[in-house]
Amino acid sequence: MIEIKDVRKQFQDLEVLKGVSLTIEDHEIYGIIGQSGAGKSTLLRCINGLESYDAGSIVVDGTPVSVRDKDTLKHLQKQMGMIFQSFNLLERLDVYDNIALPMKFWKMNTKSEEAREKIMGLIRLVGLEDKVHARPRELSGGQKQRVAIARALVLDPRFLLCDEATSALDPEITKGILNLIQQINQELGITVVIVTHQMEVVKQICRRVAFLNEGKVLSEGRPEELFVKPATKEIKDFLREGSELLPKEGVNIQLFFTGKGSQAPVVTMMARSLDVDFSICWAKLEDFRKNVYGSLVINTTEENRERICAFLDKNDVTWEVL
Ligand SMILES: Nc1ncnc2c1ncn2[C@@H]1O[C@H](COP(=O)(O)OP(=O)(O)OP(=O)(O)O)[C@@H](O)[C@H]1O
Ligand SMILES: [Mg+2]
Repeated sequence: MIEIKDVRKQFQDLEVLKGVSLTIEDHEIYGIIGQSGAGKSTLLRCINGLESYDAGSIVVDGTPVSVRDKDTLKHLQKQMGMIFQSFNLLERLDVYDNIALPMKFWKMNTKSEEAREKIMGLIRLVGLEDKVHARPRELSGGQKQRVAIARALVLDPRFLLCDEATSALDPEITKGILNLIQQINQELGITVVIVTHQMEVVKQICRRVAFLNEGKVLSEGRPEELFVKPATKEIKDFLREGSELLPKEGVNIQLFFTGKGSQAPVVTMMARSLDVDFSICWAKLEDFRKNVYGSLVINTTEENRERICAFLDKNDVTWEVL
C-alpha cells in the first residue's frame, strides 16, 4: 500500500506539488492523469525516492520514503520497478543483459541457473523469445517497452511504476502493452501505478484514477465516474479536448452517457417526440468495458432549450448547457 499525505514539492520558486494526498491499495491498477506540467512525473519520482519532497509523507508498506535514509531507500526502490516513455535501454547490451542489469546492480550472479530461469521466464512473459540476443536498435518501440517491463520485474518488485509508458507507441501497440501490464497485475499480483496524459490508458486498465492539476488532486475515483461526470471545469476542459470549435450561435447542450441505459436512442427519440431540430457538433462516445460512455454536444435554438432540457431530465440523461 502506498499512502501519500499532503505532499509538497517546490523547484526554486515553482510549487509543483501543492499538498497531494492519495492512497494506492495493494493489487490495484491506479492511474494518475493530468495535463503536461501538472506534476505527475514529479509525484511518481517522489514515490520511489528519485526526488525528495519538502513536506507531507509518503509511506510504502509502512516504511516512509526518505532520500536521507539511503539504505532503507535502496530496499524500497528494489520493491518498485519503473518504466518510462523513453524505455532507457542500454544500446551496447542485448535483450537478455538489459533485463539482467538490475541483478548486476545488486551484485547477483546473472549466469546462475536460477537467474537464467528467472530472466528467460520474463522474456517468455513479455513475448520476446525470438529476440533474446537482439540489441535495442533492432527492436520496435513496443518490443523495447517489453524489454523495459521485463527489466522492471527482474527483482520481483511489489510495485510497477509507469511514467507515460505508452505515450510513444501507436494505439494498437499501446493496447498490447496495457494488456501485458494487466496480466502482470493479475498473475503476479503486482500493484501498478500509471502516470499518463492519455485518457485511453486510464479507461482501458485503471481501477481508480486521480486527476492532477497544477500540483493538486482535483478528483479521485473510478475512471468512468471521472469520464462521465467530470467534477470540475479543469477536468471538463481536459476531457473536452478538441471541442473548442462549438458554434457561437444558439445553445450548446452537452449530454452525458453513463453506461446504463445509454444504448437507448435518446437523441432520435427526442427529435421525434419534440419535433425539434438540432445539430450534433461534437461527440465522444466510447465502448468502455462493454458499456457506452461519453458525451455529445448538440446545438439548437434558444426557443427549444427549455423543452429539450425537460425531455433530458425526464429520460434521466445528465446534461449541461455550455
Ligand atoms: N528538476 C526540475 N527542476 C525544476 N523544475 C522542474 C524539475 N522537474 C520538473 N520541473 C517542473 O515541475 C513541473 C511539473 O513537472 P512534471 O514533469 O512533474 O509534470 P508532468 O505532469 O509529468 O508533465 P508531462 O505530462 O509533460 O510529463 C513543470 O513545470 C516542470 O517544468
Ligand atoms: Mg511527466
